Amino acid sequence: METEKNIIVAENIVEIIKSTIEAYSDENIYILVDENTLKYCFPLIENAFSQPPQVITIKSGDKNKNLETSQVIWNYLSDNGGDRSSLLINLGGGVISDIGGFVASSFKRGIDFINIPTTLLAQIDASIGGKVGINSNGLKNEIGFFSHAKRVIIYPDFLKTLEKNEFISGFAEVVKHALIHSQDAWNELQYFDIENIDYSKLKILIKKSAQVKQDIINQDPKENGIRQALNFGHTFGHAIETFFGRKNIQILHGEAVAIGLICEIFISNKVLNLDLSKMFKIVEFIAINFNSFDIEMDDYEEIYELMKHDKKNNNNEIRFALISDIGKVEVNQTCDKNNIFQALSFYYQLKK
Ligand SMILES: NC(=O)c1ccc[n+]([C@@H]2O[C@H](COP(=O)([O-])OP(=O)(O)OC[C@H]3O[C@@H](n4cnc5c(N)ncnc54)[C@H](O)[C@@H]3O)[C@@H](O)[C@H]2O)c1
Ligand SMILES: [Zn+2]
Repeated sequence: METEKNIIVAENIVEIIKSTIEAYSDENIYILVDENTLKYCFPLIENAFSQPPQVITIKSGDKNKNLETSQVIWNYLSDNGGDRSSLLINLGGGVISDIGGFVASSFKRGIDFINIPTTLLAQIDASIGGKVGINSNGLKNEIGFFSHAKRVIIYPDFLKTLEKNEFISGFAEVVKHALIHSQDAWNELQYFDIENIDYSKLKILIKKSAQVKQDIINQDPKENGIRQALNFGHTFGHAIETFFGRKNIQILHGEAVAIGLICEIFISNKVLNLDLSKMFKIVEFIAINFNSFDIEMDDYEEIYELMKHDKKNNNNEIRFALISDIGKVEVNQTCDKNNIFQALSFYYQLKK
């Protein structure tokens, strides 16, 4: 299976785009943006095109990652000369790379697309790995394919206009990647100050974090085994995200993952004997960098039920990717209900 051979962290993005699009004729290039990436990101790359590309603008937000929006993009392509040799450039966050990759992979049985991710989450996670798709029937990412971008071009300077909360949301996945990769990656992260972003440090961090995902994808492109390591923090994380969503309490995916990481670090200690002092150090780092949310004892049963319905389970048994040490992941782990309640109460007590 083809994977992205080409993930580039660009110093000079205009030059990289120029060389990437050389193989396509100017009138065959389309660029997909939302209103924010049109305003903040497109001007930074506009000079790469010898004639203005055809810009397709969709509304931002995960709720627009749907069939209706896909239809708008398909129609634009077919009404404006799109053919088998067209190129779609996805300039935006994970919503743009997911829906753009989906539309490109299905238009006329598939045209080329490249990703130019503009959020931290997209730069180190969503734009890499070949999962493209849309939400449908009330379910996230229900319809889609495995289909790889011809190239992923990462330009950390885009993040200068990103809202702080969006940055923090992506940072949860950076933390996850460091924890599943190595002690060195984890140590390096300790020197990064998200209150005062140093862009030269950030560039290195992004490059390494994107590489962690890419290495795992290369080993297991279709998620039959080790790719599940990327699910670390997400068994609790997804349930917690849904739990707050139901109550109309705003929580970002990364904020829910941060809580999920804390709970799954706790379970890693219970099930795989993760060293206790390491556990406390990791938990402290996460608690300092992410917002805390109220989860009361009365809520545990509902969160547990949500976890049981996670589509990644086998026979209703809740599955986790856990760590026995920093950099050592074990997939397909289980634990009992008692441990799950204890983990939530461990999170609760952190606030005191
Ligand atoms: N395919 C995968 O493997 C994968 C993995 C993780 C997440 N995802 C998907 O990614 C999506 C979330 O991605 P996201 O967090 O990037 O959200 P997003 O694409 O919604 O972007 C977040 C917000 O930031 C704005 N924005 C983007 N770049 C900007 C910039 N440089 N400056 C200012 N504003 C900017 C966007 O317009 C949007 O309002 C979800 O749909 C999720 O399902 C996919
Ligand atoms: Zn995630």
